[in-house]
Amino acid sequence: MVLLSAQNISMSYSERPLLNDVSLFIDDSDKIGLIGINGTGNSTLLKILANVEKPGAGTITTASGVRVAYLPQNPDFGDDKTVIEQVLSSANPSQQELKLYEAKSILTKLGMTEFDKKVNLLSGGQKKRVAIAAALITPCELLILDEPTAGLDPKGRDEILGELYKLHKSYNMTIILVSHSMEDVAKVADRILVMDKGKCVLDGTPKEIFKEVETLENVGLAVPQVTYLMRELKKRGFELPDDVFTLEQAKKELLRILAKN
Ligand SMILES: Nc1ncnc2c1ncn2[C@@H]1O[C@H](COP(=O)(O)OP(=O)(O)OP(=O)(O)O)[C@@H](O)[C@H]1O
Ligand SMILES: [Mg+2]
Repeated sequence: MVLLSAQNISMSYSERPLLNDVSLFIDDSDKIGLIGINGTGNSTLLKILANVEKPGAGTITTASGVRVAYLPQNPDFGDDKTVIEQVLSSANPSQQELKLYEAKSILTKLGMTEFDKKVNLLSGGQKKRVAIAAALITPCELLILDEPTAGLDPKGRDEILGELYKLHKSYNMTIILVSHSMEDVAKVADRILVMDKGKCVLDGTPKEIFKEVETLENVGLAVPQVTYLMRELKKRGFELPDDVFTLEQAKKELLRILAKN
């Protein structure tokens, strides 16, 4: 089932075209990684998909009853709430009392246990965790995340990616996220969209996209580091598959080869 469709989306700021006739469908239970270099319009496209910004042209259609949650790239907390107040402020006012336990539980899973600290005093990475908890507090069918792991420490990245994986698995939640880490995209996504010069130039599975090494490099992107390593080893005669994108997969393949030799 199509949850959201974007048809012929164009957007310009001060006459400079940024998005040029982009059309795409987001299906139920997709986990999409959107990649593109800085300034390509990744965030602009997400804002349009999340209905936070109106496109210059084109239409966004969301299937009926589909709730969308959105995490901005640089969450701005405005007034000086505490961590727990900030997360609860994203919940329906009538449900805030009920959500207290849930809010604490999400924050704890994301490594934030200082519930009563003022959000404005938090570090960048801590603010990001609070903003993610706020996006997750209301149930939704489509979760749109702009660079959820940027600026987080390694444990934080794993906690966030792990939570996203669980949400997807438990609630069949559809996820679309922007990241500049090919490693994170490889871990989470089962579909990758590649943006370049206002267009979506590639749309496919990680296997299809990460095989396009040249195209990705030409648009300023790359494949995961481990994929380069495996390709190099393959060139040197080791029997390795082309579609190794994560450390886990690489470990399995390398151990297999070591056992054979
Ligand atoms: N409200 C705005 N007014 C004018 N220009 C804007 C506005 N919003 C975005 N832009 C411009 O559009 C371009 C793309 O912005 P956007 O935030 O979508 O980039 P991005 O692809 O998400 O980059 P990054 O990876 O660095 O976050 C930038 O050049 C930015 O300056
Ligand atoms: Mg951005």
